[in-house]
Amino acid sequence: MAQQTVVVLNGPNLNLLGEREPEVYGHETLADVEARCRTVAAAAGLEVDFRQSNHEGVLVDAVQEVRTSAAGIVINAGALTHTSVALRDAVAAVAVPVIEVHISNVHAREAFRHHSYLSAVADGVIVGCGTQGYELAIARVAQLQSALG
Ligand code: DQA
Repeated sequence: MAQQTVVVLNGPNLNLLGEREPEVYGHETLADVEARCRTVAAAAGLEVDFRQSNHEGVLVDAVQEVRTSAAGIVINAGALTHTSVALRDAVAAVAVPVIEVHISNVHAREAFRHHSYLSAVADGVIVGCGTQGYELAIARVAQLQSALG
């Protein structure tokens, strides 16, 4: 994979974006989010590898696969954020910038959403900015990439 690729990983149920709890997550689909990510990334000279899985192991495999080759990783792990030590350990082994994203403000929701296993091992966290959070995260990866490069 080219060093100029931002890998955007989406966890369980994010395939239902736009249909599931639109009052919380909005009306945009994941395909809409992907298109906006590609536009923002292209403006920064980056490509996007956009993935979604409902399966913890698939996400762990994806993180391991790109841990040294990506320009950065943007991850919305969905509910696995609050449960997965395995995903946390995979992210801890990543050599490139990792930005955690949540569409909703998890801190204003149920107590079980207040703790993230990923936040302590991510380089940045963007919460409650709606789907714009993905664009902000890509902009951050681009910034870090240019600062490092
Ligand atoms: C989410 C927040 C999580 O608590 C939830 O399980 C999700 C989506 C968000 O983007 O706001 O699936 O990660």
